[in-house]
Amino acid sequence: MVPTSDALLAQIEQTLASLPLSGTPDELYAPMRYILALGGKRFRPLLTVLSGGLFGAAPEAVLHAAAAVEAFHNFTLMHDDIMDQAPLRRGKPTVHMAWDTPTAILAGDGMLVKCYEILLDAVPAAMLPEVLAAFNRCALEVVEGQQLDMNFEAQGQVAEAAYLEMIRLKTAVLVGFALWIGARLAGASPAQAAQLRQAGEQMGLGFQLYDDYLDTFGDPALTGKQPGGDILANKKTWLLIYTQAHLPATAQAELAQWLAVADSAQGSAKVAAVSALMRQAGADEACRTLSERYYAEGLALLQTLGTQAAYRQAIEQLAARLMRRQS
Ligand code: IPE
Ligand code: IPE
Ligand code: MG
Ligand code: MG
Ligand code: MG
Repeated sequence: MVPTSDALLAQIEQTLASLPLSGTPDELYAPMRYILALGGKRFRPLLTVLSGGLFGAAPEAVLHAAAAVEAFHNFTLMHDDIMDQAPLRRGKPTVHMAWDTPTAILAGDGMLVKCYEILLDAVPAAMLPEVLAAFNRCALEVVEGQQLDMNFEAQGQVAEAAYLEMIRLKTAVLVGFALWIGARLAGASPAQAAQLRQAGEQMGLGFQLYDDYLDTFGDPALTGKQPGGDILANKKTWLLIYTQAHLPATAQAELAQWLAVADSAQGSAKVAAVSALMRQAGADEACRTLSERYYAEGLALLQTLGTQAAYRQAIEQLAARLMRRQS
């Protein structure tokens, strides 16, 4: 039987709390503990544990690998919030606001190194070269995706295909890696693990599309993020790309005018106006539909995999929760 996801989440929290994230100077380590203690959905480490279970591994066998995945995710958030000038994360001040930007840069750097330490402990020696190569590829792709995301801020128009490749890199590959490492450590063949990675990438595309949706249309009390942060940062989200392509010609000029507004005193007016134009174009509903399509594609890739069907169902249930999440 699959432990309940609450039970697995409790084990994941315990493992994260036991990570050796202390040392001197404390200013370097305190932000690592801070961001991890802020919580979050923990769906990536949950995926690692569930994909291990799909191939017969007990949660304990993959919990430390799962913790490495979550620690890496939190490192990327620490740096992402600097880049996106985000004041809030999980309803609390971001690390660069609570401390300062140099501290957030260094604590992030340190946290990435910690991921390697955790993996060194978590992975059997015979598998280390393969796992480290896969992790390195994933980590570098995330950084490539983040650079593209920043490049796009300065571009007026971005093609949908370029956006999808950007989110595949910045977000989806880590979801793929979370599933891959659990399966591989549990004894899945390289081909099986690769198919799981592919499934995770499709789900990750759906996840990021919906993250963009929530940034603009979600309840900030639930997302824990600054409302309209993507609009304020001139992010080329799918919502915006769709709106630019589908808004009636009469409203195009209005959109272009608002997009050009850089005065922070007009920030909330800009968010209100651009999000209304997005709704007018039907981008909100179209984004949700596309997000669900990617989840469905990911889940379809899972169908034939693994020996433990109950774990496949647990992954499907997790995906269903992610599809209608509010945070
Ligand atoms: C936020 O990820 C960053 C993205 C890739 C969109 P999550 O939405 O998983 O953040 P937490 O960990 O639950 O806070
Ligand atoms: C973040 O994308 C992707 C990574 C952290 C690699 P976002 O910038 O959309 O994430 P949020 O919305 O700040 O969580
Ligand atoms: Mg970002
Ligand atoms: Mg961000
Ligand atoms: Mg976002």
